[in-house]
Amino acid sequence: MNEPAILFDRVSKSYHLYHPMTGGIKSFLFHLPEAVKILKNSRYEVLKEVTFQVGKGESLGIIGRNGAGKSTLLGLIAGIIKPTQGKIAVQGRISSLLELGGGFHPELTGRENIVMNGVLLGLTKNEVFQKMDEIIEFSDLGDFIDQPIKIYSSGMLARLGFSVVANLDPEILLIDEILAVGDMEFQKKCLKKMMDFKKSGATMVFVSHSMENIKLLCDRVIWIDRHTIKIVGSPEEVIPHYV
Ligand SMILES: Nc1ncnc2c1ncn2[C@@H]1O[C@H](COP(=O)(O)OP(=O)(O)OP(=O)(O)O)[C@@H](O)[C@H]1O
Ligand SMILES: [Mg+2]
Repeated sequence: MNEPAILFDRVSKSYHLYHPMTGGIKSFLFHLPEAVKILKNSRYEVLKEVTFQVGKGESLGIIGRNGAGKSTLLGLIAGIIKPTQGKIAVQGRISSLLELGGGFHPELTGRENIVMNGVLLGLTKNEVFQKMDEIIEFSDLGDFIDQPIKIYSSGMLARLGFSVVANLDPEILLIDEILAVGDMEFQKKCLKKMMDFKKSGATMVFVSHSMENIKLLCDRVIWIDRHTIKIVGSPEEVIPHYV
């Protein structure tokens, strides 16, 4: 493998569980020390001792059931989520599209959000203005580009988000199942763009429930099951087990 762009060494992530206060707030306060102990001990482990590497220029797919921990894994790579244990090392500038409408403001128009999002993703304001026409053209949102995005459909939000990312120059690109809400035409356009990124040597980590897209884009696949890595391998090896 090339020099690693992403390295996970026995990374675990757990969350506190919410507890219903069965005895009510009074009883909770009265038994505070025990209550706190119960809360502290009831943790839910989302990822358990996950170890893997992604080489520079490699495309890695992440698959697994709902709630398996895929988005958590991307959040950890992006540095948005901190691990409870283990070590994460990332080399390169990260561009990510992790949630629908993430980094957008509902009251602003599509155009205004492009500026805000572009800057959030590391471009200067001037760079965004220079790329504005291309971004809008890619999004194919027509007149809606000057409407507040609170009236956008989920597919339209995905178009806006991906169009900004498509005009970045990512070293490491993280994408979390955004294509699924786009229509066929837009999905094709996005896939083509991602192939271009791949050719240009970008490292990609791509979460998807579409095995077709995983096969198309990824050199290797990680199947996350029961909070940990079940299999790592080529799409041809891993996907038949998963499906
Ligand atoms: N902030 C949080 N606090 C507590 N639990 C969380 C938090 N974020 C995620 N979880 C839990 O972690 C588990 C993994 O969530 P995650 O979003 O990573 O799953 P996923 O594999 O991306 O699922 P999907 O395919 O539905 O997108 C879930 O059980 C979820 O409830
Ligand atoms: Mg998810």
